[in-house]
Amino acid sequence: FEYSVIPSTRYSDVINMLRFSFYDEPLNVSVGLCKCGEPCESLEKYNLATMEDNMSIMAVDKCTNEIAGVCLNGISRPSDSEVCRKRLEQGDIKYKLIFGLLFDANQEANLFEKFKVDKIFELRVLCVAHNFRSRKIASELLIQSEAVAAKNGFSLLKIDATSFFTQKLATKMGYYEVKSVAYNDFKDENGSQQYTTPAPHDTYKIMVKEITAACSF
Ligand code: ACO
Repeated sequence: FEYSVIPSTRYSDVINMLRFSFYDEPLNVSVGLCKCGEPCESLEKYNLATMEDNMSIMAVDKCTNEIAGVCLNGISRPSDSEVCRKRLEQGDIKYKLIFGLLFDANQEANLFEKFKVDKIFELRVLCVAHNFRSRKIASELLIQSEAVAAKNGFSLLKIDATSFFTQKLATKMGYYEVKSVAYNDFKDENGSQQYTTPAPHDTYKIMVKEITAACSF
């Protein structure tokens, strides 16, 4: 596989790959925001904006030119929270259930204050196509993302690890947990669980890694 920053000429291929591969992310399964093979406007807008930060990585099968996996990385700044809040107000109920959970947990984690930084390298969407899974592509996407972060002067990396597999992977790569949220702690007004993520995905963790900005691999 060849790993590189995603050029704008491949944005639509990435969006298409995600339509067939990201639907089984645990919160998505629980809430049903995106269906396999179908467009998902709110998520796709967010993904395109993220790719425009020009720090997202793709793994491409050298023989077929097919996109095997991506890690969409964006810059997070303190001023973003107002924009996110507005987007949440305008989003539909499914969008709110996913992004509201992430937003609230991140507000509580207060990473800008805790780590005294004014920008964070955010690993937002990690996804490997089904036929390429379990071949360490996600692991390599994290390594490549970290190199891009270092090159661009970031000292803090953050991943919203909604999947148990991502948590395992991030831990191996030197990330540690700064906040953990159990999905079954959230109940609606009738006392029913708001999130029914499939096992073993019972927790959402905000995980970080501090790096020396100038150093790369
Ligand atoms: N069952 C058990 N373990 C698994 C599974 C599985 N289905 N999938 C991955 N793992 C484990 C691997 O065993 C490996 O651990 P190990 O090193 O101890 O063996 C670890 O997770 C990573 O393995 P990789 O081969 O690098 O992972 P892969 O390339 O298969 O991609 C990913 C993993 C990205 C989670 C993929 O399954 C996927 O795209 N899932 C759907 C989308 C998703 O949930 N993304 C993550 C959400 S969080 C976020 O996006 C920031």
